[in-house]
Amino acid sequence: MASMHTNATTMYFTNCSSSSSSTARLLHFSTTKLHKFSNSISHFHRQINLHQYRTSNPKFPKSILTHSSSSSSSSSSTVEVKSEASAKVIDGKRVAKDIREEVAVEISKMKNEIGIVPGLAVILVGDRKDSATYVRNKKKACDTVGINSYEVRLAEDSTEEEVLDHISKFNDDPSVHGILVQLPLPSHMNEQNVLNAVCIEKDVDGFHPLNIGRLAMRGREPLFVPCTPKGCIELLHRYEIPVKGKRAVVIGRSNIVGMPAALLLQREDATVSIVHSRTKNPEEITRQADIIISAVGQPNMVRGSWVKPGAVLVDVGINAIEDSESPRGYRLVGDICYEEASKVASAITPVPGGVGPMTIAMLLSNTLLSAKRIHNFR
Ligand code: GUN
Repeated sequence: MASMHTNATTMYFTNCSSSSSSTARLLHFSTTKLHKFSNSISHFHRQINLHQYRTSNPKFPKSILTHSSSSSSSSSSTVEVKSEASAKVIDGKRVAKDIREEVAVEISKMKNEIGIVPGLAVILVGDRKDSATYVRNKKKACDTVGINSYEVRLAEDSTEEEVLDHISKFNDDPSVHGILVQLPLPSHMNEQNVLNAVCIEKDVDGFHPLNIGRLAMRGREPLFVPCTPKGCIELLHRYEIPVKGKRAVVIGRSNIVGMPAALLLQREDATVSIVHSRTKNPEEITRQADIIISAVGQPNMVRGSWVKPGAVLVDVGINAIEDSESPRGYRLVGDICYEEASKVASAITPVPGGVGPMTIAMLLSNTLLSAKRIHNFR
């Protein structure tokens, strides 16, 4: 499947040919796609004092983007490509494990001191295999760190009222600190009505319009931030990658990842552009970015030539592509052509093992945060 790719300085072979083309249009972002093969996401975590964490973890690298990586644009389309990968690998699997351990310690402390155990309620409607896997992984993660989990499974043909009824009960249940309705919902349900029904104090997914609205507004604080974008930013923080004043490009504008990721980057004082399915010449925009977060669900779409030398790349995509050499018949790749981009970037998240494990880590962290806030526990 290798294809030959040339540019002004180098000619090399790549197996990123599953990308539609370098002028690829973005596919509609499918949240299920991101989680379809979420076995790789069975790693979890906890919340911590970042400064304390960094200083007590000498294994973590010093700043990656400290060279000024001139925020000015490199409009040229020729990029010197090294023959070897030189980017630092951002190890989401390890960070997620660290977070899981931190969350477990805090939960144990909370239980010992005030007798409260955080509880997470998950509502799953229908029989999508990917959603079922994802919910199972969330439950396993809760067990690992000591969060009580409550699960409601409803048939595909359930009514919206039934879902609302369960949400209402969980809203009133003091042993539940977080409520999550697994998306997507069956098409006969109104997602907006359902998400609006979760009380914002228990909205650990951060999808309630009030939480998203606060995320978007200066001087307002959301109670919760959506887990996947929060995980992306957490990785940047833990690797001490500066964001302030940097040019950031988010690829994809979904409610679950792209849009909140852009808002978060903006809150961190990055200058943010969003590339989406109607963007003309997306590679001209990505080539100006110091930081790229890609969440579009299009395998290997971001080629090495889309990347500015020294950029930091965060790949949210988890896409299965055919691979006859794999025993499973497929393998997972991100939205970013790792083979090419890792020769140009200064740091990159792998797929799997990058952002994927962080999503559930952040869900555990949000559930702990909720229980602490509700019980005024510091
Ligand atoms: N479906 C895909 N991703 C998510 C997520 O982060 N939360 C929920 N509730 N559903 C999802």
